Amino acid sequence: ELQFGNPLRMRPPVTRTVFSFLHGVSWRSWTNVAARFSSHSPPYAYRVARMIIAVDGPAASGKGTIARSLAAHFGLPHLDTGLLYRAVGVATERAGGDPDVEADALKACRFNDALLAEPALKSEKAAGLASRVSVHPKVRAALLKRQRDFAAKPGGAVLDGRDIGTVIVPDADAKLFVTASPEVRAQRRQFEDYSRDYPAILADILSRDERDSGRADAPMRRAEDADLLDTSDLTIGAAVQRAIALVEARIRP
Ligand code: DC
Repeated sequence: ELQFGNPLRMRPPVTRTVFSFLHGVSWRSWTNVAARFSSHSPPYAYRVARMIIAVDGPAASGKGTIARSLAAHFGLPHLDTGLLYRAVGVATERAGGDPDVEADALKACRFNDALLAEPALKSEKAAGLASRVSVHPKVRAALLKRQRDFAAKPGGAVLDGRDIGTVIVPDADAKLFVTASPEVRAQRRQFEDYSRDYPAILADILSRDERDSGRADAPMRRAEDADLLDTSDLTIGAAVQRAIALVEARIRP
């Protein structure tokens, strides 16, 4: 009487077995398989097999965390393009140049890649230098190819920055513009470093926003076809879930 029916009948039906098998296969590897076997519609098969996600937004909006999580979720490589500008800013200063002088910053664009791994790039000072060198059109042009090459990786990629959806990959499959109120962003920065006082952090964030969105070349702005994701009232987990849902809605055939 303890047995709930015939054990043989309790086996999942064949269809369920098949679908639970598919569930365990990552979305991208499954579409790659689909692309390989699809002979009747090559453009569509190509498109789903190679997915580029553009994530833009201001400092401390959560775009970096979201971009990394999307990359892990979809099994794609990720490029934090802000790091390139930070490297140029720090290299300019180390060479004794002036970040506000285009020629000085341009020379620093040939920085040694080992610099990208240095913790110094994560500092607020490096962020300020990055914002200053990034206004120069020749610096932006010098970093363009590296970003486009990354986006052109065979399976696709996730890139985050300020101008990914507008300039670097305007034809990305999914674009997010991640934002949050300046007050919330300043508070997040303070949680990371309590040695800094809130008004100074807020002032830094506001001046960086102004410089990044006010520059003439590739200013930070939301692309017309980008989904807006305001993370002001969201936990990291909720923001990531929302980002995944927005991307999936864009790539669903
Ligand atoms: O994302 P981040 O905070 O690391 O960026 C640092 C600065 O680099 C940012 O204030 C402006 C500049 N930047 C840019 O101009 N374009 C990008 N795609 C990424 C960063």
